[in-house]
Amino acid sequence: QGMSKMDKAKNVKDENKLYLHEGILYSTIMSPLENLKGLKELEGRPNDILLVAYPKCGFNWMVAVLRKIMAAASGQQELSQIPPLMEFFSPDMQKVVGEMPSPRLLGTHLHPDNIPGTFIAKKTKMLVVFRNPKDTVVSYYHFMNTNPVLPNAKSWDSFFTDFMEGEVAWGSYFNHALAWEKLMDNPNILMVTYEQMKENLGQGVQQISKFFDFPLTEEQVQTIAGQSTFNAMKESSKNTHGKHGNVFFRKGEVGDWKNHLSEAQSKQMDEKFEKHLAHTKLGAKLKY
Ligand code: A3P
Repeated sequence: QGMSKMDKAKNVKDENKLYLHEGILYSTIMSPLENLKGLKELEGRPNDILLVAYPKCGFNWMVAVLRKIMAAASGQQELSQIPPLMEFFSPDMQKVVGEMPSPRLLGTHLHPDNIPGTFIAKKTKMLVVFRNPKDTVVSYYHFMNTNPVLPNAKSWDSFFTDFMEGEVAWGSYFNHALAWEKLMDNPNILMVTYEQMKENLGQGVQQISKFFDFPLTEEQVQTIAGQSTFNAMKESSKNTHGKHGNVFFRKGEVGDWKNHLSEAQSKQMDEKFEKHLAHTKLGAKLKY
């Protein structure tokens, strides 16, 4: 599982931790080429629950929310399942997942063009999570330095440049955002933002549960929201993640970029954002 891979990763040299595949960098340890190739065979189902997010946009947060919603709606206890990120599945694991009972919770950081085709063809519902690019780059920088499967960032400045150029694992934030932007009106896609979840988690839980047809009472919605705040999740992660907890729970705030981006970097991001995203529907949701 993820954690043992993390421990192994400490023995792999930094320069071998990423590899290039079809123009995009991936983690050698977590998503080797055999995983990506095998994924093409993974059959999507119409009733899968697919979570998609660019790295550091709140993926693990929404995994926790979805698990709680699914457990509450089915009246069953939340099971500690396999981490749902599909590019982490080895070919053997892919077979196991192929036989898992429905509804399956699956997730990915892949660009929409690289998501296995059957998920799109079968109209699997997708929850897509985005976050403003300034907080995303800051969160990603810290993740590089705390997660042993990724190489350490040489410096903040060099990582910022890599991020702007899309030379980071899973590729360019802007390419992902622009591709999802085109799919936003697809009725099988619900797009939410990190910022919106921070502002009103109860409303977000309500919206997500409705979208996936998991009816919840108002009380269940509020309970799930209460259990899914940053502090609540960080606290309970001490049981589930042990010493690795702080890799996934850093600060959990909107606006931490102000403590990291220089004036020039902030301006550079503004310019790129203005040029590509600001005028779009998704861009309007990502104001920072
Ligand atoms: P920060 O580094 O800004 O703190 P991902 O799961 O996609 O890797 O995203 C990680 C980011 O989500 C981290 O952001 C992490 O702290 C934040 N996060 C995790 N759980 C959260 C929660 N319950 N509420 C708010 N933010 C959360």
